[in-house]
Formats: sequence, C-alpha cells, structure tokens
Amino acid sequence: MMHETLERWGSQRAFILAVTGAAVGLGNIWRFPYITGENGGAAFLLLYVAFVALLGLPVMMAEIMIGRAGRRSPMQSLLQLANQAGATPHWRWLGWFGGVTVFLILSFYSVVSGWSIEYLVESVNGDFVGSTPAEIGAGFDAFLADPLRMTFNHTLFLLLTMSVVAAGVANGLEKLNNLMMPLLYLLLLVLVGYAATTDGFGTALAWLFRPDLSAVTPLVVMHAMGHAFFTLAVGACALMAYGAYMPDHQSLPRAAVAVAALDVTVALLAGIAIFSVVFSQGIDPGEGPGLMFVTLPIAFAELPWGQLWLGLFFLLLLMATWTSSINLAEPMVAGLQGVGLKRGQAAALVGVAVWLVGLLSVFSFSSLAEVHWIAGMNFFELVTTVPTELFLPVGGLLIAIFAAWVMPRDIALRALDAGPTGYRVWRTVVRYVSIPLTLVVLFSTLI
Ligand code: PHE
Ligand code: NA
Repeated sequence: MMHETLERWGSQRAFILAVTGAAVGLGNIWRFPYITGENGGAAFLLLYVAFVALLGLPVMMAEIMIGRAGRRSPMQSLLQLANQAGATPHWRWLGWFGGVTVFLILSFYSVVSGWSIEYLVESVNGDFVGSTPAEIGAGFDAFLADPLRMTFNHTLFLLLTMSVVAAGVANGLEKLNNLMMPLLYLLLLVLVGYAATTDGFGTALAWLFRPDLSAVTPLVVMHAMGHAFFTLAVGACALMAYGAYMPDHQSLPRAAVAVAALDVTVALLAGIAIFSVVFSQGIDPGEGPGLMFVTLPIAFAELPWGQLWLGLFFLLLLMATWTSSINLAEPMVAGLQGVGLKRGQAAALVGVAVWLVGLLSVFSFSSLAEVHWIAGMNFFELVTTVPTELFLPVGGLLIAIFAAWVMPRDIALRALDAGPTGYRVWRTVVRYVSIPLTLVVLFSTLI
C-alpha cells in the first residue's frame, strides 16, 4: 500500500490555479464554440450553464474531496476510503475507469493541441497576412488532409506533456498558470473588443443569449451535460489526483466556485468573439471542429499587428491545453505507479499508447475519414463523443454516489472544509439533485 502523500500545493491560490489550469483548455476555446454552433446556440448555452451549476460544481467538490481525504492516487484513495466505510474494495475500479476515460480523451486532445502548434508556427511566419477568409478555410482543409504534418505536431505536443508528467506534477505548473491565465483573459477581451466593432456582433449576442427552447431535444441535453463535465475536468478522477495535494485549511466550495466562474467566462468570451466573426463573414455556425481555426485567423487579420496577436493567442492556447493534458495523463500514470512502475516508466508507457491511439484520430481526416465505427462515426468523431458524453457523466455519477452515500460523514465533512451547514447543503444537492438529474439524462438518451 502506498503511503499518504506529504506533497501539497504551495498555497490556496496555487491549488485554484492548478485546477483552473486543468479546467481551462480546448473545452472552452475550441470545443465550446463548435458544439454550441452544432446545437443551435442559446438554448444549448443555457442548458450547459445549468449543468455546470447543478452537476459540474457539486460533483467537482465530491471528486476533489475524495482525493483530499485519501491523499493517494485515485485508485488507492478510493480503496482506502471504501475500507474505512466498510464498503466493497471494488470502488477502486472507478479510478481505473477514469483512467481509461482520460486516456481516450488525451489521445485526441493531443492531436487538436497539435493543430495549435501548427497555427502558432504559421502565424509567426506571417502565413495569414493578406489572406482572404476563403483562403484561410482552404488552408485548414489542406492541413487536415496532411497526416504527416499532423503527426509531427501530435508527437511534439505529447513529448511536451509527458516530460512534465514524468518529472512529477511540479510546482512549475503554478508559475505557468500564473502567467498564462491573466494574459489569456486579456487577449480574449481584446478579441471581444474587436468583435464589438463587427456587424456580426449583435447577431452573435442574440444567437448566444436569446434561447429558443423549441430547439431542445434529448440529444442536445446530453451534449450539454457531457460538455459541462468535460469543461470542468470532472468525472474522470483527474481532479481527484490533484485533490490529494490540496492544503489542509482551504474551503473546497469556494475554490470550486472560483474555478467554475473562470472556466465559464473564458468560454463565453471565446464564444462571443468567434460567433461575431461567424455572423459577419457568413460562416456556418455548425461548421464543426474547424470553427475556431477558421474564424480566429480571419478576426486577427483585421487587427493592427494581427499576426503578432494571433501568434500570442495560439501560444496561450497551447499553454492552456498543456496544463490540461498534464492533468489528463495524471490518473493513468498514478495508477501504474501504484502497481509498481517507476514514474518515468509509467509516463513513457502511457505516452506511447496515447500516441498510437492518437494516430487513429490523425488519419480520421484522410485515409480513415470514411471508416465508421459505431453509429456512422469515424474514429475522431467517436473518441470526441463517447468518452466525453457517456464516460464522464457515468464516472461523475459514481463519484457522486461514493462521496455522498458511501464515504463516512466525518471524513467527508473535513475534506469539504465548509462547516456542518455547508456540508449538509452540498450533500443534499448531490443526493437529491445531481445524482437523479444525471440518471434521468443518461436514461432518457440511451433508451
Ligand atoms: N477541462 C479540459 C478542457 O476544457 C479538458 C479535461 C477533461 C481535462 C477531463 C481533464 C479531465 O479543455
Ligand atoms: Na474547460
């Protein structure tokens, strides 16, 4: 049995930054706009915000609590707490389920983060200067059709990630987040300022914030629920791993609310900027995964020193996805370490396996584009959908059940660190809102 960890994040702020680093990433800037576009706008946005409040936040607290109370890898924390509660040791498999989920997510996350590397290089080279929107769109398609270039970037990104993971979730992360988050905000604000000058701005705001509830189908609800889990990094035991290093005296609800607020606002700012371009250029909001890569170069091309801003933007996006992917790798690496591998070996093993599975996503835009796995989806479509929209909610559900029904009350109360009343409110919400709501959404779409 592995011993309790003595490592702690340096301060309360450091913990919030670490979790924000895991939360803010492709989910906000890449996935949120395109999935909102595919699901019709405001009604989807409303559902997603509701799910963040009713599911994402309470389950995030549940997940971090387990890590904080166990102070071990997710698998061992679950086992330890299950033993203390007199429950079945099989709960530890929940940690492995989370590991598989984030493993699959990381395999496409790395590929798409590689797209940002490509775009960083291209913008620094000035490739977008003087390009028309049509040329920018065609350039993206040409890039997708080139598996070699995509593989190169995927490889580079994974090396970047796994080298940090191999060294241990260092305090270097803290410095990186400290620098990146304010800059990312600033740049998004500049973009929104520019968006306000375009003629698509009004349409974008109406489209994002004036919901048409007749557009809501069970599938739209399911997409919104999955995205709430994905964007907050909840449901895969990845935040559980970070909870193990949480300092002793810090209110968990307060930290979780801060993270969720930061996460949602980044998505909203990115959404406003991107949809203003969409509507002023007559681009289809349901354009799909390329949405951000086509709209942002167009927007920046119109700004003074646009090339510089664009380069900086992709650099910040890369830092944001880097801190997320480090978190994505953590549960698997911690799990393998727990069964006796050295940290470096575990990181290398996970890295190679993720790289191989990622190749299936790379080729999903060329030779494997028409190879359909389930329900007409090619590999990229499958791996960006099922782990996010099915595995994360199922994982989150089990995490919530464990924290609110299985974990001994006094241990849970201490791990939440919000007083007896705070604990009672949290537990009531999880037991009677989050758990039933997740079940209802899962069953109504699956049946
Ligand atoms: N929250 C991250 C994002 O929005 C993705 C993520 C999911 C990270 C699950 C960790 C665990 O990009
Ligand atoms: Na996010």
